[in-house]
Amino acid sequence: MTASTMKAMINETTDSMHEAQPGSAGQVVTTDSPILATYKRAPVEFVRGSGVYLYDAEGTAYLDFVSGIAVNALGYDDAGLKAAMHGAVDGLVHTSNLYHTSPGERLAAALVAKSFADKVFFCNSGAEANEGAFKFARRWARTKGDAKHEIHALRGAFHGRLFGTLAATDRPAYRLPFRPLTPGVSIFERDLAELDAALSEDTVAALIVEPVQGEGGVRVLDHGFLRELRAVTRARNIALILDEIQCGLGRTGTLFAYEQAGIEPDMVTLAKPLAGGLPMGAILMTRAIAESIKPGDHGTTFGGGPFVASVALHVLQRLSDPAMLRHVTEVGAWFGHELHELARRTGRIRQVRGAGLMWGVDVMGTAAHVVSESLANGLLVCSAGDYTVRMLPPLISTQADLARGLSILEEVL
Ligand SMILES: Cc1ncc(COP(=O)(O)O)c(C=O)c1O
Repeated sequence: MTASTMKAMINETTDSMHEAQPGSAGQVVTTDSPILATYKRAPVEFVRGSGVYLYDAEGTAYLDFVSGIAVNALGYDDAGLKAAMHGAVDGLVHTSNLYHTSPGERLAAALVAKSFADKVFFCNSGAEANEGAFKFARRWARTKGDAKHEIHALRGAFHGRLFGTLAATDRPAYRLPFRPLTPGVSIFERDLAELDAALSEDTVAALIVEPVQGEGGVRVLDHGFLRELRAVTRARNIALILDEIQCGLGRTGTLFAYEQAGIEPDMVTLAKPLAGGLPMGAILMTRAIAESIKPGDHGTTFGGGPFVASVALHVLQRLSDPAMLRHVTEVGAWFGHELHELARRTGRIRQVRGAGLMWGVDVMGTAAHVVSESLANGLLVCSAGDYTVRMLPPLISTQADLARGLSILEEVL
């Protein structure tokens, strides 16, 4: 494909790279690809990556502010990550969870040492982690009474697209085609008074919250609000599950976003960057939750296998390095300030929201248009809803990388 055909195709792209429209919008995307079109893919094919750049077959560089949707925290072609993967190849790849293997044990111990948690369950994706957390919350809550089973989520939430998590995901287009949704899972406003009334000690097992809502438009939940939620859920014996699948593991400048609110949850779910691009999810939990779970209550064939866990050990060590976290805090604060300046200069941004290296800007016009124009100009950004352009640069991005992305964005706007 020539560069000019590619550019023409990019300009024709009317939707974001992340959002799938078929079914939900009554419109089915057909392409020649044998891969089912659940995503409307951008008209570009990447063949390699280096640092914060992706390259197509013609060698065109794209500055990546998507990071595989918050997965590639260490960017591309990272020497340490590659060495960890090569090293893992020489070890066992898979044995099943019927046996002990050392990498998973060591990874769980490292996660426990660095967090509030006493036990860890490994799985393969974000949605799978949240599904597991719902089951664990119910198992634990049932020890307190049979009616205690409801799961509450917040307006704007995205917790996944499997049956249970879909019911906790507040996006009508994703939900409506698949009704009836899992019962006992409901969405409430991000409002303390409404939640106070909804969080009944007798019926509610868990409240699940993203400290920074990602897909819902990059909305940073106020730390005071999180503390209030913690106080109410603790007082009423309701498990507080924090979904840090997108905002966790260093993205907001601390290893876990909850640290900044000064709270301790009952469970935290992780995935995206955990194994450097290999599929892996995790549920971190307190002893009280763990003690209600018995062998046979839950399972997964691949979760926490030795290959993926060895790689995740390396990633966790890199992302929890105080120098890395300081870097994210510093460049993230600078980036946020510059986005506000950009809004002022261009008059094309209604609102700027974010923390660390997780930012959203509400643009005039559609986010999809900015996404496709940015792609045509060598910058990858994605959307979070119809009007929010979302930026999730690799955590290794320098101020110069961020400045380059800002100047492309300014031109596009
Ligand atoms: C906050 C949050 N939770 C859950 C998920 C689902 O993760 P996965 O796509 O790995 O199932 C995502 C994915 O974007 C997410 O951002």
